[in-house]
Amino acid sequence: MRLTFSIQRYNPETDVHPHEEDYRLEVGRGTTVLDVLIRIKNEQDGTLACRYSCRSAICGSCAMEINGSEKLACRTSVRKELERHGRINIAPLRNLPVIKDLVVDMSSFWGKVRGVTPWISETSDVATDPRSGEMALRPGSYQFHNVDACIMCGACVAACTTHEVSKGFLGPAALAKADRFLSDPRESPAAKHARLSELEKDDGIWDCVRCNFCVQVCPKDVKPMEAIIRLRRAAIASGLTASGGARHITGFADIIEHHGRLNEALMPLKIVRFNLKRMLGVIPLGIRMLLKGKVPNPFGRPLPGIVQVRSIFAAARLGSPQAGRRRLAKVP
Ligand code: SF4
Ligand code: SF4
Ligand code: FES
Repeated sequence: MRLTFSIQRYNPETDVHPHEEDYRLEVGRGTTVLDVLIRIKNEQDGTLACRYSCRSAICGSCAMEINGSEKLACRTSVRKELERHGRINIAPLRNLPVIKDLVVDMSSFWGKVRGVTPWISETSDVATDPRSGEMALRPGSYQFHNVDACIMCGACVAACTTHEVSKGFLGPAALAKADRFLSDPRESPAAKHARLSELEKDDGIWDCVRCNFCVQVCPKDVKPMEAIIRLRRAAIASGLTASGGARHITGFADIIEHHGRLNEALMPLKIVRFNLKRMLGVIPLGIRMLLKGKVPNPFGRPLPGIVQVRSIFAAARLGSPQAGRRRLAKVP
């Protein structure tokens, strides 16, 4: 079939703005978007710039925006794109500077990956294999949750809503990489704590808004957002609870445990705490919400059944579903 491919072109040396160019090509079944780009480059327009290497979804070089979503060109079927969208539009990855056409500048991406210390900075005193005394990764001694499958394609960073508005955000790929090292049993607890202390700062784990786009676009099922959630849990478990994000979670849980439901009027107090300036900023909003009946009385009585709610929290702290069931069974 003969199809039209619309490709975003931009040469910073000659163009003021990016523009679309259409190419018509005869393609057969099984053709990928990368096949098309290589053919256009070889047969029609040698000036088209795109990046690729393995052609097998391994190297991560060919990530780009195809019909509005971040994908690897080498594993994107032209036929399927046509069936879903009725057209083929190709553009460079969003939110990264364009060098030329479909090639983006990945230096900020790599800088952030380096920024999370993607190596074991200090080994543990305890051997991972007590029998041999070796510091080796044995099957069953670690759980990387598939984050080690990342091919560093950058698709998740291009799709990230936080990165779109805050270019300093470490981003899903770098944070997933950090989670891989946090899960490595060979790294010492002190090094893990230092790692988490860095990650909980501004532009780190608490800046993710959990939009899930990184999970949707990742071609390797890395699920970076879930890695970020693991890092958050680990940070709180390590006692790193001073950041606004951590206080939001601990405050939320605290209110539910004591009142049986969320009380929005108390949330700012939990997050802002003794910061008088910020507190004065949220008090008028809290009063307006209270007057309009949007929040329960902060000084009201807990909900009926609060005993059961507190038992659930107690069971969760014990970490055992059986213990939880036993405790709940005792609740009158
Ligand atoms: S879930 Fe978080 S890291 Fe993933 S794309 Fe959304 S904001 Fe970015
Ligand atoms: S997490 Fe997935 S989308 Fe992000 S760089 Fe790694 S492989 Fe690509
Ligand atoms: S060319 Fe290597 S992942 Fe597509």
